[in-house]
Amino acid sequence: MKKTRDVIPGPKAMRVIDTMKKHAYDSTFVYSLVVSHGHNCIIEDIDGNKYLDFTSNIGSCPLGYSHPDIVEILAQYSSNGTYKIAGQDFYCQEHADLAENISTILPSGFKTFFINSGAEAVENAIKMAYKKMGPLPGISCTGAFHGRTLGALSFTFSRPVQKYNFPELPSKRIKFCTNDNDPELDAAEKILKENKVAFILTEIIQGEGGYNVASKKFISNLRKFATRYGVPLILDEVQSGIGHTGKWWAFEHYGIKPDIMSTAKALQIGATAFSKKFDPMQRSVLSSTWGGGNRIDMAVGSRVIQVIKRDKLLENATKMGHILKTGLVEMVGKKGVINVRGLGLMVGIEFDSTAHRDKKLVELFKHGLMTLGAGQKSMRIIPPLIITKEQIQEGLDIMHKVLMRT
Ligand SMILES: Cc1ncc(COP(=O)(O)O)c(C=O)c1O
Repeated sequence: MKKTRDVIPGPKAMRVIDTMKKHAYDSTFVYSLVVSHGHNCIIEDIDGNKYLDFTSNIGSCPLGYSHPDIVEILAQYSSNGTYKIAGQDFYCQEHADLAENISTILPSGFKTFFINSGAEAVENAIKMAYKKMGPLPGISCTGAFHGRTLGALSFTFSRPVQKYNFPELPSKRIKFCTNDNDPELDAAEKILKENKVAFILTEIIQGEGGYNVASKKFISNLRKFATRYGVPLILDEVQSGIGHTGKWWAFEHYGIKPDIMSTAKALQIGATAFSKKFDPMQRSVLSSTWGGGNRIDMAVGSRVIQVIKRDKLLENATKMGHILKTGLVEMVGKKGVINVRGLGLMVGIEFDSTAHRDKKLVELFKHGLMTLGAGQKSMRIIPPLIITKEQIQEGLDIMHKVLMRT
């Protein structure tokens, strides 16, 4: 990989960032990367600097960049002037294809509803629960991230700045337990005994919250309590779904199934998937605009599923994740690296402070490695599923160099 990172940000990047600062809301940008294009697991910025991508754009680019299968799909639409339609009003082949493709990896009998984003996938999951259960509080977890639209935001607990002063839907919060001996493992049952509740909503591996992996007992308890009290279990697989943990869905590591689930990112659009029991069985209860109408995204989503199957990328995620985690674990206990955890190719590194994590994120970037923060003081690594052993090693070498110096 040719690296030209002499001046970062370069002059072209500086112009874009200055324009953004002047005319746009400067929301959550992390460092001065201005993306131009990409190939395989490499992203090039507009000044020609190259970076090994350990983010896959938070899982939305599972096949990396310029993948021949995706390039082929995009080419098909270059002469189709109708790439976006009112997809809840008119049918198209891509919608049927994606529904059929995703059904091959969902629990049997599940149906899907397509929307624009992950947050809307969560919103439609909770709407399905409200429709069946009534306008009751929902149970969700500390450290959870379910999106930033106002409904989903009520159940997001990652950072106060995301919702300060905003009105919220009723919720009951339980601790997200990562340890099988946590005394709070049955907190949900205490709530369910005393309150009527519309749903239990959780991630299996918290994304934005810091790549915290749920305890096996915690998840099996939630499944058990949901069934016992007749409340739907909603699993949010927006970040973890479609292969990043080495299985199609993170819940497969736990031997349970949800009643309703949300996914997005790697799928290219949002999807709420549900067992027949939660089918609203009435038209117009749910609707979306271009999630079910962006034909290119739906066509790419179908091809992503097919390529993951054809190229055995779940196996690759498991193998590469193992190499990655083994390499990172060696750094635990040294130079402020507190902990390494994860499932498959979703790996989190916890630091001793936010400032330390933030400093290392920028240093890694300047050394040609893209990573992202998660939670208060963790770094998340979620490379494309096509990543090779050599690329994992290259990333580990950079991490070793940057993290193991003061
Ligand atoms: C678990 C989870 N749920 C929901 C969302 C919201 O998805 P979106 O940004 O597509 O609205 C995210 C986004 O990071 C997520 O990680």
